[in-house]
Amino acid sequence: MIIAIDGPAGAGKGTLARALADRLGLRHLDTGGLYRATALQILRAGGDPADPEVAERAARSLDESLLDAPDLRRPEVGTAASVVAAIPGVRQALLDFQRDFARTPPGVVVDGRDIGTVVLPEAPVKLYVTASAAERARRRHEELLARGETSIYERVRAEIEARDARDAGRAVAPMRQADDAVEIDTTDLAPEQVLARALAVIDART
Ligand code: DC
Repeated sequence: MIIAIDGPAGAGKGTLARALADRLGLRHLDTGGLYRATALQILRAGGDPADPEVAERAARSLDESLLDAPDLRRPEVGTAASVVAAIPGVRQALLDFQRDFARTPPGVVVDGRDIGTVVLPEAPVKLYVTASAAERARRRHEELLARGETSIYERVRAEIEARDARDAGRAVAPMRQADDAVEIDTTDLAPEQVLARALAVIDART
């Protein structure tokens, strides 16, 4: 069983992916974490995430312990992740890891930007989880405040929109809804409602 979930930042992909993995007894891979860890490795070493050579080297020698780093979720790491993610050599370096992970029984829920289109196009279940930019920014802003960090809503929204534009506009594996993906707009839905819709799609497709 392979469930591919794509969509923009803050739409609720991660929450849904974890809930589905829990409910169905599957493993979960947050592929954004791989790009974030690559970016964090570069930032910690004082490197430039936009330098293709530096970025590809980091992706090829990724320190997997960074996937659990508390800094991984920081907004500046998200932005740097989106920068390294536009570099073809980085995407290639992370592709095998993602495909190997997906092949491991009993099955997986994989979330990202290009899972249904490039990484696992054969996935029988594809979901495209989205929400308005205003709502996604509001969620991120609340999340940061809840963690005791300073956050300015307008800045969060501008960062989210810049990230969407970069992720959807890059030449290699841009963020895009696969032709056979079912869209779930979470703008006005609670997490349980999103889960119920996803389970209905899975029932219909398997
Ligand atoms: O989902 P996230 O916010 O953790 O992702 C961080 C960045 O990583 C995102 O802005 C673009 C990149 N990414 C990608 O290009 N492809 C994926 N499959 C997952 C993430």
